[in-house]
Amino acid sequence: MVNDPKFVLDHWEASWTDFQRSIEPIIKSGAVDIARLDDVFAQFSSPHDSFLNDVNDRNCAERDLPRDPTGLPYQNLMVIDGRYVCAPRKLRTEPILADAVITQITDNTELIVELGCGSGRNLFYLYCALPTWPLKYFACELTAAGRKVTELIAALDPKMDCVTQAFDYRDPDYSFIPRDQNAVFFTSHSVEQVNRLDREVFDGMLECTDGCVGVHLEPVGWQRDPELKDLVESNSWPDGQTALEIVDGKLIRNSARWALDKGHNTNLLEILDELETSGRIRIRTMAYDVFGTNPFNPGTLIVWEKV
Ligand SMILES: C[S@@+](CC[C@H](N)C(=O)[O-])C[C@H]1O[C@@H](n2cnc3c(N)ncnc32)[C@H](O)[C@@H]1O
Repeated sequence: MVNDPKFVLDHWEASWTDFQRSIEPIIKSGAVDIARLDDVFAQFSSPHDSFLNDVNDRNCAERDLPRDPTGLPYQNLMVIDGRYVCAPRKLRTEPILADAVITQITDNTELIVELGCGSGRNLFYLYCALPTWPLKYFACELTAAGRKVTELIAALDPKMDCVTQAFDYRDPDYSFIPRDQNAVFFTSHSVEQVNRLDREVFDGMLECTDGCVGVHLEPVGWQRDPELKDLVESNSWPDGQTALEIVDGKLIRNSARWALDKGHNTNLLEILDELETSGRIRIRTMAYDVFGTNPFNPGTLIVWEKV
């Protein structure tokens, strides 16, 4: 299946508009500051997908796990380090991503750029972890609603030097980046939204900066398996083998199946491999299926540097 760009745009405009409606009164009431957004984001990112709610409900019943007073499981089925585990439902992606980004920041780093930032939650988490570091943050996002939410939240702390920027992986334009500086680019579950990325997404990052590092937490671990890659790209999944089995040995197969159903990205690993082979980048970290609060869509952590 190929994801229709118009469907993706409409879906995320609606989603971030909903989020804006829920967060705007909280911001206006003054009841939240930039360092205390956890519960607001957690509420929004708890699985709305009824399929995942059912998976967690069944998992809780099968393992006889405790439930909170409202009947929700305290633990959900997740992926950690390539395995299915039951983990506290409040575990979030931001700290894992932030840790990977922070460890790439050096005294030379000037810019932090998130591509496909949505509500900006990862940037705010990073900023709170690094408040005194003089960095410029670029919040790049396809949707106007996502950019609006990011601006509303960033305004909670005028000391944060954060600008929003319209950005589309399908037509990447980096002219907003100050030339010849040192940047850390990062993405989290946004590359997934684009079925096939073009090489120019990376050429642009490499050309507009003096030095740069890329950090990705994207559900692409299954792309390392040539057979699965072929099945997804040719949309020829065998009939009768579509069930998602919660067995570690099936984890990457399930993840490939999820990518096929959702029209997710199929070529991030291939592009990074080409760039490394041609000597333009060096891959520092490749940690497959490191973390997923959605057990069928676990993120692989990738870090590369410009050579
Ligand atoms: C799953 S959300 C992730 C948002 C954010 N990175 C996070 O971790 O919270 C996917 C984001 O990718 C954005 N997106 C989808 N297609 C895009 C494209 N072609 N170019 C840039 N961003 C895109 C969506 O608007 C949405 O904000």
